[in-house]
Amino acid sequence: MQAKTLAVILAAGEGTRMKSAKPKVLHSILGRSLLSWVVGACADARIDELVCVVGNQAQKVEEACKAAAAKHGIAQISVVEQKERKGTGHALMVAKEILEQSDAQNVLVVSADSPLLKATTLEKLIAMQQSQALACALLSFNASNPFGYGRILRTAQGDMLGIVEEKDASLEEKKISEANAGVYVFDKSALLYHLSALSNDNAQGEYYLTDMLSILLNAKLPCGALMAEDETEALGVNNRVQLAHAAKVMQRRINEAHMLAGVTMWDPDSVFIEADVTIMPDVELLPQVILEGNTHIESNCVIGPQTRIESSYIGEASLVEESIVVQSRVEDRVSIGPRAYLRPETHMKSQSKAGTHVEIKKSVIGKGSKIPHLSYVGDAVFGEGVNLGAGSITCNYDGFKKHKTVVGDQSFIGSDTMLVAPVSIGNDVIVAAGSTITEDVPDDALAIARSKQVNKEAYVSKLREKLQANTSE
Ligand code: UD1
Ligand code: CA
Repeated sequence: MQAKTLAVILAAGEGTRMKSAKPKVLHSILGRSLLSWVVGACADARIDELVCVVGNQAQKVEEACKAAAAKHGIAQISVVEQKERKGTGHALMVAKEILEQSDAQNVLVVSADSPLLKATTLEKLIAMQQSQALACALLSFNASNPFGYGRILRTAQGDMLGIVEEKDASLEEKKISEANAGVYVFDKSALLYHLSALSNDNAQGEYYLTDMLSILLNAKLPCGALMAEDETEALGVNNRVQLAHAAKVMQRRINEAHMLAGVTMWDPDSVFIEADVTIMPDVELLPQVILEGNTHIESNCVIGPQTRIESSYIGEASLVEESIVVQSRVEDRVSIGPRAYLRPETHMKSQSKAGTHVEIKKSVIGKGSKIPHLSYVGDAVFGEGVNLGAGSITCNYDGFKKHKTVVGDQSFIGSDTMLVAPVSIGNDVIVAAGSTITEDVPDDALAIARSKQVNKEAYVSKLREKLQANTSE
């Protein structure tokens, strides 16, 4: 039987370098917090049990941890509070009791600020520790800029000696490019036996988890390092420059996966797709597209340029151009934009249209119905084949309450019409342009609600004569 693995996520740190009121590990990249990305990687690596060490803004981080575990399907999770932050080694010390009680044989330790770690790498590290019966297997990487990371110390023969932190490193040691990713798999009993040997006799006065390596090696226990194939995986987010860097790497990873699955992108660098978005093949994404939340896009849609879609469904072969769509349902062959704004609970049925400078909120727009230009539609239900002329709006708000507008099938609403809700327009109605409709209109009727036009004939020439006479006096 395979040994059980318990994962400890270190998430208690102050995150001082972020200069933020928000805990560092709750900063997001592409729709997930740093913490949630790490929990996801642990879940995908099929760990058996999760322990989260929290401290800074403990309650918030604890809630986020539990939510992330639930989202990623980790059933067994516990949270332990590190009241004083005395370093990564100390963070593990406060989890000691939980580790002792667990029936897991090995312990994976990861930092919550390493969102780019891949599950496959964690699995490899766990397998390496198991197959070689190591007291510790750690992940190292060849850093193009190792500044800020712990460096792996080795003998001339290449045998590992330990890890030295940036702040404690000599000039010579700072030149070492093999860096510590902060990911370890320990044999649980070896870790627990030697944990108390950690001291805080160093530049930062902290208990460094990194010292476990030399402690275990000095006790003649076997340790090994797995070199990450790709150094970006090990990127730790300590400041907002690194946050942006990690987001860039994640953006490329996500976009490449979509492109390989059949999605065209003119400029992947300007397309931002959050983790939970799903896209079918033969969708074309133009520049500057942001897809958020649990958005789903069906085949043959063309989205963009300059479009943001949040938690919405977009049906087959629809077009969304220069628009914002939020929490809405758009069926097949619908045309949105340019410059439309679909607000929450909008439902555009098949082949309908929301055109230029059109805003729609909490409304159903029936099959084939068109709202082509400059309209506001709120709290409305439009039937099939409706045409709403340019500049027409629903007056859905009386200053106190929102009211409903209903427009029946095949009705034509002329331009610049005010539909003052609550109001109901029947089927096959024509409303004359410029009307202010305050009363219901029955099926098949023509409604005109505007002041009557008066033409005063032979008027302008007389007026001119009169004005000219006045000025020549
Ligand atoms: C750490 C490693 C360094 C490694 C780097 C990789 C140590 C001493 N150094 O440095 O060798 O190259 O990660 O990214 O481990 N935390 C706690 N409690 C604490 C302190 C930190 O839970 O008392 C948590 C933080 O929230 C963070 C993680 O531990 O998620 C790492 O701490 P951080 O301060 O970011 O360590 P680094 O300086 O990056
Ligand atoms: Ca870090």
